[in-house]
Amino acid sequence: MNEYVNFYEKNKISPVRQNIDDFALHVKRREGLYRQLGLLRANFEGKKVLEVGPGGGYNALVTYSFKPSKYVLVEPNSTGFQELKNNFATHGFNENVEFHNTFLEDFTCKESFDVVMCEGLIQGLPNREVFLTKLSSLVKEGGVLVITVADEISMFFEILRRYLANELIKDEKDFKKQIAILVEAFSPHLETLKGMTRRYDDWCADLLCDAIYNHTFSVADAITLFQNEYFFYGASPNVFHDFRWYKALPHNPLEYNAYYLEQFNTQRHNFINSAQTYDKCSAEKNVALSLTCKELIEVVKSLEKHDGTYAKEDAIALLKRIADNLLEVDSSLHVSIHEVIEIVQKENLTTHDVSQLCTMKPLFGRGQTFLSFCKETL
Ligand SMILES: C[S@@+](CC[C@H](N)C(=O)[O-])C[C@H]1O[C@@H](n2cnc3c(N)ncnc32)[C@H](O)[C@@H]1O
Repeated sequence: MNEYVNFYEKNKISPVRQNIDDFALHVKRREGLYRQLGLLRANFEGKKVLEVGPGGGYNALVTYSFKPSKYVLVEPNSTGFQELKNNFATHGFNENVEFHNTFLEDFTCKESFDVVMCEGLIQGLPNREVFLTKLSSLVKEGGVLVITVADEISMFFEILRRYLANELIKDEKDFKKQIAILVEAFSPHLETLKGMTRRYDDWCADLLCDAIYNHTFSVADAITLFQNEYFFYGASPNVFHDFRWYKALPHNPLEYNAYYLEQFNTQRHNFINSAQTYDKCSAEKNVALSLTCKELIEVVKSLEKHDGTYAKEDAIALLKRIADNLLEVDSSLHVSIHEVIEIVQKENLTTHDVSQLCTMKPLFGRGQTFLSFCKETL
């Protein structure tokens, strides 16, 4: 068990439903994602594909439509698994597909796959390295691994919303009523997001999943974990440049990947606000931002559990440090964080206070980043 499955099973939910009424549009969106990751339909057609943690399978339906010769899906949550099977059945997608209602850790399989995908999961796991070792063992030599990452900077505004959510529902024990409160508070925030396909109640349920407190897995952490075995291949959004001449490219993955790792720390602040891109920043400043955002996660978690380690003043002090760090990057972020500081000092925070946050309301970080890697150890 992990935080996702504990939470989903306890509340009998799979809060990753998407509006796919316009399936052709859904396919176009996913094609855009795969293209940024260096994957075309031809990379799936006639290939063996494994997907781990597909939830109700809304995205998996698109992958299936690219006609893999075999598509294996591994999903442990009983509600998600049932929805996955129903979604495939509704679309008449029943050939060359296998469903396994189990954890990846318990999944036994002798074969390896051309493409292995795992979306929206690894960043929330406590045992990432064990999980990734198993995942990697299922990728064929020359195959592609697609994962997602999310870190304390890309999740900063989500953690801030979790802090507000904890305050709003602290006297409400009923899960459905908690979600209703959060939908009221955050709907005006979510309405500002262009291209949002998720249900607001699902988004709010996910905000309450404790997996959010593990989201400290950065793009650089993932590249570092795979640096000896895989060549970094693509990212969505694509946060890197690569001006190297192909004839001068290093042939071993460790040296090849170092080029991307060198760029990362000067770009980290670009994960804070999905609506803007900023010029490069000093690595020291960004490392400090990352450490402060990590501390904030610990403080928000501790305040929620009432474990007495931290007080509200600690959260406020960290928020002020984060606002100061970002002042030169974008002074409007500084203003928005101070807007939140002002309302959290109130004795009784209301849904109205949160829904009316004027400058913070439209601010969302980049959330998860997709990464693709090519396995080349020979
Ligand atoms: C946040 S959801 C993402 C669902 C889907 N991939 C998406 O992006 O919409 C994470 C999914 O991973 C599944 N999951 C959690 N732990 C897992 C594990 N150890 N092995 C396989 N799947 C797991 C959960 O049940 C859930 O369906």
